[in-house]
Amino acid sequence: MGRDPWHDASDALSIDSMQVTPRPTIEQVQTALATVNDPEIKRPVTELGMVKDVSIEADGVVAVEILLTVASCPLQDTLTRDVDAAVGAVSGVSRVEVSLGVMTDEQRQGLRRHLKGSGTSRDIPFAKAGSLTRVFAIASGKGGVGKSSVTVNLAVAMVGQGLSVGVVDADVYGHSVPDMFGIGDRRPTQIEDMIMPVDSHGVRVMSIGMLKARRDQVVAWRGPMLDRALVQMLADVYWGDLDVLLLDLPPGTGDVAISLGQRLANAAVVVVTTPQQAAAGVAERAGTMASMMKQRVVGVVENMSFLSCPHCGPQHRIEVFGAGGGKRVASALGERFGYEVPFLGGVPMDPQVRAGGDSGIPLVLSDPAAPAAQALTTVARSLTGRGRGLAGLQLGLTPVGR
Ligand SMILES: Nc1ncnc2c1ncn2[C@@H]1O[C@H](COP(=O)(O)OP(=O)(O)OP(=O)(O)O)[C@@H](O)[C@H]1O
Ligand SMILES: [Mg+2]
Ligand SMILES: [Zn+2]
Repeated sequence: MGRDPWHDASDALSIDSMQVTPRPTIEQVQTALATVNDPEIKRPVTELGMVKDVSIEADGVVAVEILLTVASCPLQDTLTRDVDAAVGAVSGVSRVEVSLGVMTDEQRQGLRRHLKGSGTSRDIPFAKAGSLTRVFAIASGKGGVGKSSVTVNLAVAMVGQGLSVGVVDADVYGHSVPDMFGIGDRRPTQIEDMIMPVDSHGVRVMSIGMLKARRDQVVAWRGPMLDRALVQMLADVYWGDLDVLLLDLPPGTGDVAISLGQRLANAAVVVVTTPQQAAAGVAERAGTMASMMKQRVVGVVENMSFLSCPHCGPQHRIEVFGAGGGKRVASALGERFGYEVPFLGGVPMDPQVRAGGDSGIPLVLSDPAAPAAQALTTVARSLTGRGRGLAGLQLGLTPVGR
């Protein structure tokens, strides 16, 4: 914007250039503000009662006062920048002055009521009939097969399809998900009794590790404690309207799987395995467990399928962990359940997968053309693009864009 009045004056030889852009109206500024979402709640600041005051000076300077939900809002710079950009784009605005305040307790309670209704129920929105969110639990029989890596990459691939995606890291032992998203020690903001998921690469992330007092604290939660933590992550977290929720489960068939089976019987289960026959046998057990909990297994992903030979290239596949495990699990589970369990594909080994986990930038984003990234993107598509006819998935799906 930045119109220089002196420059305009010296230009004043033609009548046209003397015409001053009309002063912006409050309505125009409000309309612009309505396009700015709170970075955490992902709804317009105007709707959330976050715009306290707008004033427009004669010289086109617009002052906007924004109320933060909480004083320590970690995303206040983003918010300031977004307001500045949106209002600055209104014709006639010469400059935007954004000032920040903080909501009063009363305003915050109003916001909470607006978002969650007045009840204090701890219902899990995804378990309700009519929920349009498709829930996928990523499970495996044993540890270290790449569940978390697969979950994180599927999530960003789905965001790339235009979907709104949440990830719950339900791994009580590991919680590697925050690091894989580059979230580190960022903690969720709390508004009243609502917990805001942490945003990374457009994915709304919540980890059981974020509920701990300290990062290095060891959680030995079991049974009811664990169940409570899971319900908290599903019911008390403000997820907004999600198209997809991915749950990264701990390995095996323990308490988390049981709790989730009871809480989210409508979740679809994706089994991750390696090609190794022994691993495949264990993976089958995870699938059987899901089925016992009345959850539907919607597919099998084989991770670490092969390594491209560093000498010959991709035409020479080195089968580090053997071959055939993924297909075997899919057909064994299909036979057992009496419905087709599709083999969703094999993801090759790629040191970049690990590097992406360490850097917090998943491979699907850092090198989307890499064969492992392509394989993961294909799996994401077959999960979200698969139409109806699969029990365990909700109807009314909106695969791409909205
Ligand atoms: N396709 C792959 N290529 C190379 N390395 C991979 C691949 N998939 C996963 N890894 C690496 O293997 C290790 C285990 O992966 P990950 O943590 O995703 O597995 P997990 O099943 O979630 O493990 P856990 O059971 O401990 O939760 C990580 O170091 C990860 O970076
Ligand atoms: Mg894991
Ligand atoms: Zn070779």
